[in-house]
Amino acid sequence: MLDRLTQLETEALAALEEAQDSDALADWNRHYLGKKGALTQMLRSVGELPKEERPAFGRATNEAKATLEAAYQARADALRQEQMQRELARGTLDVTLPGRPIGPGHLHITTQTLRQIYAIFAEMGFQVYESPDVETDELNFGLLNMPPHHPARDMWDTFWISDEVLLRTHTSPGQMRVMRKRCPEPIRVILPGKCYRYEQITARAEHQFYQVEGLAVGHGITMADLISTLTEFARRFYGPERHVRIRGSYFPFTEPSIEVDMDCILCGGDGCRVCKHSGWLEIAGAGMVHPVVLENGGYDPDEWSGFAFGPGVERPAMLKYDIDDIRLFYGNDLRFLRQF
Ligand code: FA5
Repeated sequence: MLDRLTQLETEALAALEEAQDSDALADWNRHYLGKKGALTQMLRSVGELPKEERPAFGRATNEAKATLEAAYQARADALRQEQMQRELARGTLDVTLPGRPIGPGHLHITTQTLRQIYAIFAEMGFQVYESPDVETDELNFGLLNMPPHHPARDMWDTFWISDEVLLRTHTSPGQMRVMRKRCPEPIRVILPGKCYRYEQITARAEHQFYQVEGLAVGHGITMADLISTLTEFARRFYGPERHVRIRGSYFPFTEPSIEVDMDCILCGGDGCRVCKHSGWLEIAGAGMVHPVVLENGGYDPDEWSGFAFGPGVERPAMLKYDIDDIRLFYGNDLRFLRQF
């Protein structure tokens, strides 16, 4: 058996020298080292040997295998070199040619939209205030006037990290953080960031999306200030020809509450799946900060008042750029992203 092994090794090394291209190399590899190759077969036949001869034969076969594998690698490298030399000599390979340029990337449509929103609110005197994505139940719900078992919590199902910690469902918990930090100063901030909801993904709803919360707290702030701020924002963001609609609504942390809709550019008001066939698309919830929330933030509601609003970012961008499916934003399809 050992003689047969030595013979096989010699024969294989000689055959390797004959291999002149990658096809021949692949054939050689299959013939000697492959699953059904000669060496593998030989290793399998170890069982035919008397017991005392098996260890020595096994060792020798493994050594032969290592030798053949190294020889194969060396031959493959040598062939590659030879081929490159041939191509260089023929002049078909010009290594001095510049490589294919990798085009510079650009800002994602969401980032561009966020920056437009920051710029508009900055001109109205709003600062950007960052707050965390991972929130406590108390900040996301409790201090916003939604104690445990409050039915309004059903509007915002989310991803829970523990019984007390969750991925925020909206940017509104940032209201509490900024009030507690700034009290007793007046406030005028926007709080941008990602929100998470455990809900069905559709053409108009994602399970992760951005909002830009707005909060103003001061003396004598009224609903007129809120509506004029939001209308001015819409005018600057979409252009003066677009229409805003204000509807009464309900949020536990604002009183009274409103919803802001824009006319649907996608269907021109005729109705489509994005606007749920109504001709209008809701872009923000808003309202006057609830006295309980002001109090939780450290402000006396008898002296202070404020407004808050929470537009999404993707939906306003859809209405501005005529995008008919929110799933395109994070589908990572460059054909879509390059358009903006
Ligand atoms: C809220 O999240 C409130 N926190 C808004 C608010 C802030 C009210 C301050 C009062 C005062 P709502 O669930 O309606 O409200 O969401 C607000 C906006 O976020 C929506 O108008 C929409 O633009 C966006 N939005 C909500 N859910 C999704 C979703 N699944 N996908 C994409 N955008 C969404």
